[in-house]
This record gives sequence, structure tokens and C-alpha cells, in this order.
Amino acid sequence: MIVEPITLAGIQMAGRRLCISILLSHAIVFSAYAAGDPVEGRRMSKRWCASCHAVGPEGRGSDTAPSFAAIAQRRDVTYLQAFLSRPHPPMPRVQLSRQEIDDLIAYIEAQQLR
Ligand code: HEC
Repeated sequence: MIVEPITLAGIQMAGRRLCISILLSHAIVFSAYAAGDPVEGRRMSKRWCASCHAVGPEGRGSDTAPSFAAIAQRRDVTYLQAFLSRPHPPMPRVQLSRQEIDDLIAYIEAQQLR
């Protein structure tokens, strides 16, 4: 039986492989909806949406509004674009620009892959 010695180089190699796979999985999350910026979407969500919706894994929303994670599971980009183009009561009337809508969708869609 040949026992392979555990070398420092071997450990470094395994570490590097882990880093590369972490980088790749992040790239997949952030390319989920390329037209928008999920980081900007997250910022807006916390300010405008978090009073009703659970907008991320860390927060809790109200009982009436679905969580962003649940929305991401059941809705596609086309639906969200149409939905966010008009206000939805009880959400206050904020007129979202096309870019803001894309950013919000990028963030919502990223929840699906968590
Ligand atoms: C004052 C509370 C409130 C705020 C603020 C609010 N929402 Fe909502 N939202 C709701 C409620 C209640 C529903 C469920 C009823 C409905 O579909 O109209 C909903 C539904 C939705 C849906 C559709 C879910 C589905 O599956 O049809 C989306 C998408 C959504 N909200 C996104 C947002 C975004 C993005 C923001 C921030 C810009 C936001 N909401 C702010 C209360 C709110």
C-alpha cells in the first residue's frame, strides 16, 4: 500500500481549488439577471421594500407580503418587469425607472440560487 504524504504543496493546491470554485459559484449568482445590478437592487430593497417583504436571508417581512426568496421561486423576469412597472398597493407610489426595476429583479432573482 502506498501512503501519500500530506505535503504543504498539496494543501495549498486544495485551498486554491476551493477558492476557484467559490469564485465560480458567485459568478453564477451575479450573472442570474445580467441587465441589473444586484448590489444596487439590494440597497434599494432594504430602503423601499423591507418594511413589508423579507428581502434577504437575514430579514423578516410582514405576513401579508411574500418574501423575495418565495417570489424568486415562482416568478420569472418577464412577470417581475410587468409587475414592478406599476405600483402595488399597499406599496407607496414610487415610480421606478427601468434601471431600478432591472436592479431589483437582479437582486430578487439572485435569492433563488441561495
Ligand atoms: C407597504 C408594503 C409593501 C411594500 C413597501 C412593498 N411591497 Fe411588494 N407586495 C406587498 C404585498 C402585500 C404583496 C402581495 C399582494 C400583491 O401581490 O399585490 C406584494 C407583492 C409583491 C410582488 C409580487 C409577488 C407575486 O408573486 O406576485 C413583488 C414582485 C413585489 N411585491 C416587489 C416589491 C418591491 C421590489 C418592493 C420595493 C420597491 C416592494 N414590493 C415594496 C407589499 C409591499
